[in-house]
Amino acid sequence: SKTPLTVCVSGAAGQIAYSLLPLIARGDVFGRDQLIELRLLEIKPALDALHGVVMELRDCSFPLLTAIVETDDPMVAFQHADVTILAGSFPRRPGMERRDLIARNVSIFKAQGHALDSVASKNVKVVVVGNPSNTNALVLSHFAPTIPKQNITALTRLDQNRAVGQVALRTGVRVDQVDGVAIWGNHSASQYPDVTRATVNGEPALPKLGGRQVVAEDFIPCIQKRGAAVLKARGFSSAMSAANAIGDHLKSWILGDSKIVSMAVASDGSYDVKRGVYFSFPVRCVGGGDYEIVQGIEMDEFSRKYVSATTEELFAERIEALELCAA
Ligand code: NAI
Repeated sequence: SKTPLTVCVSGAAGQIAYSLLPLIARGDVFGRDQLIELRLLEIKPALDALHGVVMELRDCSFPLLTAIVETDDPMVAFQHADVTILAGSFPRRPGMERRDLIARNVSIFKAQGHALDSVASKNVKVVVVGNPSNTNALVLSHFAPTIPKQNITALTRLDQNRAVGQVALRTGVRVDQVDGVAIWGNHSASQYPDVTRATVNGEPALPKLGGRQVVAEDFIPCIQKRGAAVLKARGFSSAMSAANAIGDHLKSWILGDSKIVSMAVASDGSYDVKRGVYFSFPVRCVGGGDYEIVQGIEMDEFSRKYVSATTEELFAERIEALELCAA
């Protein structure tokens, strides 16, 4: 399109952004003929580092990039934003309790919610990446009442990609021969990577993965703890794979996808997940930024147990977050 798409990225001097910005600017996310205006948000102490990233972006001479804005003010960053990727958040420090982590992030996502509500396009599409991402999305939405709840999402595509990758690896096929994997719930260790309806070359994946017990003891914990395992091995948390997943998430959501994908969205009561939390469901992206939660999936006792555990965790986070929002 001749009209540039205004894309805002927060945490723009961080690791994920460093892998993500070239994907966006090269046209790998929104298409090779879509002009892009980048609006990059950081905190003041990181503005010098951000400027270095902007120098590199200019040095790439990306033909699709029409303008780059660098700022530490969300009111400037979110101005007319069509797409907003929120990767800036307060990281968990050793020994930090969940409540402290939520408290630090409530203040960030409260301010950003207000700004989004005042200056972004009412049709803005938001993906929250910074952890705790589902609850940060809830806080953002709470303080951005004029942005439709369904326009705010949190990233669980990385979890889905990890699960698909492991099914392929463990059954000896290519990833595109795997289908039907879904992520339910929180982007945390309580998430439920569901392979009960997954297929490999059109056949049930479960027996090929060794059956339910092996899946429960080995596959599910592998996906739930994958982020921690990458952090331990690399000394830094997942960034290349996170950036890649953000690209996949936005591409599916905005351009549509023939496959069912997972993303954390405002619960609507589906699968007994009461309204009020951002919950990862399998969704069908029909294009133009519209999606629907896939209905009618039969859930057995095995799956139900996992789904209720992650639902409980999200409602516990919700109570803490809303108390802090009111304070
Ligand atoms: P990073 O620490 O390299 O970068 C984060 C950047 O955010 C820093 O440059 C920091 O200055 C900035 N920042 C902090 N507060 C900000 C604010 N209020 N406004 C704007 N910018 C702010 O971290 P990395 O590796 O890029 O990860 C970013 C976030 O994404 C982390 O919270 C991480 O836990 C989360 N994450 C989520 C995943 C998911 O699947 N949902 C996967 C991987 C990471």
